[in-house]
Amino acid sequence: MTAQEEKVTTLAELPEPIARFIDETRDRPNADSYLVAVLQMIQKHFGYLPAGALNTVSQKMQIPAAKVTGVATFYHFFTFVPKGKHTVSVCMGTACYVKGAGILVDRLKDLLGIRQIGHASKDGQFTLEVARCVGACALAPVLIVDDKVYANVRPDELPKILSKYGFKPKAE
Ligand code: FES
Repeated sequence: MTAQEEKVTTLAELPEPIARFIDETRDRPNADSYLVAVLQMIQKHFGYLPAGALNTVSQKMQIPAAKVTGVATFYHFFTFVPKGKHTVSVCMGTACYVKGAGILVDRLKDLLGIRQIGHASKDGQFTLEVARCVGACALAPVLIVDDKVYANVRPDELPKILSKYGFKPKAE
């Protein structure tokens, strides 16, 4: 079940500056128009949009929960799952794919214990993502960790690359 499908019944306490912002804007004309700003503040604080926080926003701003969720899902920059400290992104463009990007994704899932693309490792260190062609096809397959690009990556090199970001391989 995704966060969007989850029937939200919990309330989460909002950080004080966000709660105050909602209180300050509540009586302004078109108070609903502050919803995106509020959601941005929540994502900045938590790193994602927790379901309980969305429910609290709905209640405090008196906007139906379905509308809050609808706005949050409309904008691609909002996320409903916690992000890891580092983002590991595998290019899945054609050149990278034919050079084994899919094998890199499978190996990364295995190493990091991540089942689904877009999710984070349990220790909160890594989020695994896939990208479209990043314009470096001659270097395929390409891996990007945060802003650093790794070229011609082989699956056996992944533990060493990840170790630069705090990855500790499980004892065999
Ligand atoms: S397909 Fe990966 S960089 Fe172009």
